Amino acid sequence: MNIKIFHKITNKEFLEVIESVGFKTYNNEQVTKALKNTMYMVKVEVDGELAGIGRAVGDYSILCCLSDICVKPKFQKKGIGLIIVKELMRMIEDGVKEGEKMQIELTPTAGNEAFYQKAGLKYKPDVITGMYLWIKK
Ligand SMILES: CC(C)(COP(=O)(O)OP(=O)(O)OC[C@H]1O[C@@H](n2cnc3c(N)ncnc32)[C@H](O)[C@@H]1OP(=O)(O)O)[C@@H](O)C(=O)NCCC(=O)NCCS
Repeated sequence: MNIKIFHKITNKEFLEVIESVGFKTYNNEQVTKALKNTMYMVKVEVDGELAGIGRAVGDYSILCCLSDICVKPKFQKKGIGLIIVKELMRMIEDGVKEGEKMQIELTPTAGNEAFYQKAGLKYKPDVITGMYLWIKK
């Protein structure tokens, strides 16, 4: 496998990957705004083919959130997801100055906790549980 990492994602690529895993889709204007306001983004191609994406959203200082970590079904279970998360974490870490700290959060889809643990994230449901709400108009 020839794996290449990129730090830009187009609207088309974003929608192609999230739709491939059955995630909610968005209109083009929303995706443009979302990607423009993204701290760090990662795209992985395998043998020249779009395989997966991921992004980190946050305030560049105290808090950021891993989001839209998605690998197309045909490329799953080949280590691509881990490459995406580790690259995002590397970029986040590079942005933290000596003496400062920043929290990385995410709300894993059920069953994927062990995947994120392999990337180094902590899972302590007895202490912290994730919550979320969709606002729909
Ligand atoms: C979750 C997802 C990103 C994982 O990507 P992937 O490329 O298949 O994962 P990897 O191959 O990099 O897996 C890395 C390691 O985690 C393990 N792993 C992956 N998914 C796992 C799961 N659901 N449960 C337990 N372990 C898992 C792999 O077995 C592998 O372990 P190993 O290194 O010991 O072999 C991918 O399955 C996906 O896109 N799912 C649909 C979208 C989704 O739910 N995304 C998460 C949003 S929070």
